[in-house]
Amino acid sequence: MIHLRKKTVDMACLPKHIAIIMDGNGRWAKKRGLPRSAGHTRGAETFKKIVRYCGEIGISYLTVYAFSTENWNRPREEVDNLMHLLEEYLDKAGTELDSRVRVRIIGEKEMLSPILREKAIKLEEDTKERTGMVLNIALSYGGRQEILHATRALAEKVERGEMKPCDITEETLSAELYTAGQPDPDLIIRPSGEKRLSNFLLWQAAYAEFWYSDILWPSFKSVHLAEAIAAFTRRERRFGGV
Ligand code: FPP
Repeated sequence: MIHLRKKTVDMACLPKHIAIIMDGNGRWAKKRGLPRSAGHTRGAETFKKIVRYCGEIGISYLTVYAFSTENWNRPREEVDNLMHLLEEYLDKAGTELDSRVRVRIIGEKEMLSPILREKAIKLEEDTKERTGMVLNIALSYGGRQEILHATRALAEKVERGEMKPCDITEETLSAELYTAGQPDPDLIIRPSGEKRLSNFLLWQAAYAEFWYSDILWPSFKSVHLAEAIAAFTRRERRFGGV
């Protein structure tokens, strides 16, 4: 049993995998007359708090959308600022994070600068034996691109004669995704009032429950996450059945 906002929830009812679209940094900053970078900085603080909270309540997988393939189209200054924040985080995460958390960077690592890519790989390597929560940070990530990448990998296997087209199944395709071996997200959260998936975990979201809120990400607190989880535990999931 776990206490979430004065409610007692059976641990078995918690979502195993939560995914979050961390949205609203820019609007949070604008409302306060601050530069967008201030919103991202505050958003990164929120991210750290939410990671800690998820670990504390026993979430097994947390995936956050930190930078999409489309985000490369933002002004250079904003991209540089986000990359700098991420670099800073990757540098410190190995020691600052709860020592049980394993970090995976999901997305097109080849699009990252050599230094950021190196730090991402090092953090994955340094935390790979950890057995607590898996934290997936989606970086230069796009759901369509991920599916294309997996499809190509399968086509190459067929071309090499390692498998037949009829061996292409949901399982073999899932095994080529960045999230291979992980359960699909049970709960996807999007703050900031938007109600879109925005190319996030397209394949994996097939049966996810969605939870939206008008709170902007920098103002998002663990009570909001607890609220989302409590709402999730009240839903009846039928997975296409009756
Ligand atoms: C969307 O808000 C947010 C992003 C594109 C970046 C998310 C990044 C962070 C929260 C920081 C991540 C840092 C670490 C260390 C993981 P937006 O800028 O599109 O907001 P808006 O829609 O209000 O303009």
